[in-house]
Amino acid sequence: MDSFLIRGPCRLEGSVTISGAKNAMLPLMASSLLTGGRCSFGNVPDLRDTRTMMKLLGVLGVSSSLRDGHLEIDASTVTSFEAPYDLVRTMRASIYSLGPLLTRYGTARVSLPGGCAWGPRPVDLHIRGIIALGAKVRIDHGYIDATADRLHGAEMILSVPSVGATVNIMMAAVLADGITVIDNAAREPEIVELAGALKKAGAVISGEGTSKITIEGVTEIGEIMHDVIPDRIEAGTFAAAAVLTGGRIQIDNCRPDHLHAVLEKLRECGASIEVSGNCMIVTGPGTIRPTDVETGFYPAFPTDMQAQIMAVLSRAKGSSTIVEHVYPDRFTHVPELKRLGAKINLDGNVAVVNGVDSFEGAPVMATDIRASSALILAGLVAEGETKVLRVYHIDRGYEQLEEKLGALGADIKRIKE
Ligand code: EPU
Repeated sequence: MDSFLIRGPCRLEGSVTISGAKNAMLPLMASSLLTGGRCSFGNVPDLRDTRTMMKLLGVLGVSSSLRDGHLEIDASTVTSFEAPYDLVRTMRASIYSLGPLLTRYGTARVSLPGGCAWGPRPVDLHIRGIIALGAKVRIDHGYIDATADRLHGAEMILSVPSVGATVNIMMAAVLADGITVIDNAAREPEIVELAGALKKAGAVISGEGTSKITIEGVTEIGEIMHDVIPDRIEAGTFAAAAVLTGGRIQIDNCRPDHLHAVLEKLRECGASIEVSGNCMIVTGPGTIRPTDVETGFYPAFPTDMQAQIMAVLSRAKGSSTIVEHVYPDRFTHVPELKRLGAKINLDGNVAVVNGVDSFEGAPVMATDIRASSALILAGLVAEGETKVLRVYHIDRGYEQLEEKLGALGADIKRIKE
């Protein structure tokens, strides 16, 4: 497993271009299974997760090729309806094959993903959703075994506005008979993105971006052709890096309108942020101010930025509180940040972060994509050498992170092992 060697401290300066959004791309790729034909996507990030989804499509008989941000998928020959455990456990988003396979082919067998590094992460809402649409579901040897002659529309209220459940149910409902209403649906930009791409291909969907999405089933949809939105979490991570290092970064090809809660918190930390269309310039303060953060469902502060803001607040002048509401156990980065010198007290889903003046480089271990990026940010301002182990997590979700940081002045190199 590769690692990153970072020599700090540094101040980042320059410009960076944001890649396409991982969490928008993965549902779009799965939605190709609805079409029975060819699909093409632009601004596609070449990530480990993109490649894992291509592998899964391959297992299902679907060919795909990715070159220079352009992804072609030919879903005219689906030969298998099973998403195997080996792929689902490496990438939970493999569960996005469930809705499309079921609604188009009447059968899907998808491994249950199991737990993840920071807790149980259930998929009960995905399952309840497809049952409401008329599927027969059996849990068989760790697999979700679902069948249906033809799904029918239904009205449902999600107990939690789950992104994944909204994606799966929306895709299943697109080819169902009649009208589906998803109440308390997720409102994330990635949902709006998927609905937009499906609508261009003939799906009838309204209300995406609000908590009530209505889908009127159609008998078929055509080729999906779509350019993927920029990754809001990657943009937020670079903005946090500018603040933490007291630097100045021009972030190009981003969607500041998807980042309101993050930018508000960074401003409270003292950042100056100039927004102009799809670009923003983030300038870090001389002294970082403490602030309090609570994660929540969009448009609240994203859980996917919690670890990075914790790295920033660890160097603030004073004490901050971070409350994690989406994944109450998502704190695997805390003991690792402490190895660098951070002072954090964790009590349940509440972290009290007492800012310190300096970090010292140390070996640290990443356990998920966002924890890894937080450790890299912290390494940038630590004195001496920080080795971030297991960077395959970074490769799942950040395109060319070390090249992008290097171009901004960071001393970071990948050690291949
Ligand atoms: N939940 C349930 N039952 C379900 C599904 C979810 O109780 O059936 C709960 C979860 O336990 C959690 C909440 O609902 O408390 C939200 O989970 P959600 O389903 O929205 O998460 P997800 O779809 O599994 C996506 C992103 C995650 C991101 C979360 C929250 C993708 C591929 N993944 O996961 O991204 O943290 O939404 O915004 O879109 C990442 O990119 O690093 C990442 C982990």
